[in-house]
Amino acid sequence: MELLSDTDEGRACATDLLCKGRLVAFPTETVYGLGADACDDRAIARIFEAKGRPSFNPLIAHFSDVEGVKRHVHWTDDAEALAHAFWPGPLTLVLRKRENSPISRLVTAGLDTLAVRVPAHPTAKAVLGAFGGAVAAPSANLSGQISPTRAAHVTEAMADRIDAVIDAGPCSVGVESTIVGLTDRPVLLRPGGVSEDEIVAVLGGPIAIRKNVEAISAPGQMISHYAPDAAVRLNAVDWQDGEARLGFGPVECDLNLSEREDLVEAAARLFDHLHRLDSEGGRIAVSPIPHHGLGVAINDRLSRAAAPRD
Ligand code: TXA
Ligand code: MG
Repeated sequence: MELLSDTDEGRACATDLLCKGRLVAFPTETVYGLGADACDDRAIARIFEAKGRPSFNPLIAHFSDVEGVKRHVHWTDDAEALAHAFWPGPLTLVLRKRENSPISRLVTAGLDTLAVRVPAHPTAKAVLGAFGGAVAAPSANLSGQISPTRAAHVTEAMADRIDAVIDAGPCSVGVESTIVGLTDRPVLLRPGGVSEDEIVAVLGGPIAIRKNVEAISAPGQMISHYAPDAAVRLNAVDWQDGEARLGFGPVECDLNLSEREDLVEAAARLFDHLHRLDSEGGRIAVSPIPHHGLGVAINDRLSRAAAPRD
């Protein structure tokens, strides 16, 4: 695996590898993605292999601009409004795929819908722009494990499974994109970097929330997900012996998501702190996180990390 610098040269090398059907991890503002040419069946199959991912779980196609997106999906008024408000940024839209779209069926897992996103991170924008087409990119972690917000998280888990990673430092948002389904009435499929309130304000009406985590199209998946090796105890108001203590607010702890109770800061630190406490072994206890704004996405990831495993 090549460790690429975030320079013109490193970005050009990443683009070249994508054109050759190889797997390249790159930063987005949410988490690091594991990218491959979305129209290349073999390259996409290698993503599933590298992640150990159940192939019924579809991937998000990433583009450098809205025009690229519209070539592959049936655009709607709600899509226009949300894209105008939040793209480039941490929002994914699920729309009907155009019949003539050359996107690999492995990307959509055979569904007639496609998840699309235009990320804001300058490195992602540069590589996607130079590549010119759709890049399918799940989070660059092994299936079911903690998402990567630094290049080191990617290399620790994936070094012998992928071709390259661009190291552009930590991701600013830190939780994955919000996913909104627009094939029927708008539905929130996964809470994420854009809050429900912000989406509702743009749509001008309430949004349905998909609660059935077992439905195929539901993002995220299996109930146990984003799981550290350590067991996780939520809403800890006191600490027990031997626990690694992940705090929020003015509490004594090992690592704090945000001393000043800032949910944006907490989201940006979440996966990195889980990675670090997980490497100490034992159990991780986590302070209660307020359930509004980005706190909804944080609590979604934490409750999956704490869910019973097989
Ligand atoms: O922030 C993000 O979204 C990151 C960065 C790399 O862009 N990507 C990411 O990808 O989180 P991934 O594969 O870890 O999660 C994508 C989720 C999956 O849970 C999948 O179920 C859902 O998107 N998804 C993809 N296509 C879908 C579709 N057609 N309908 C419903 N859900 C879909
Ligand atoms: Mg993921």
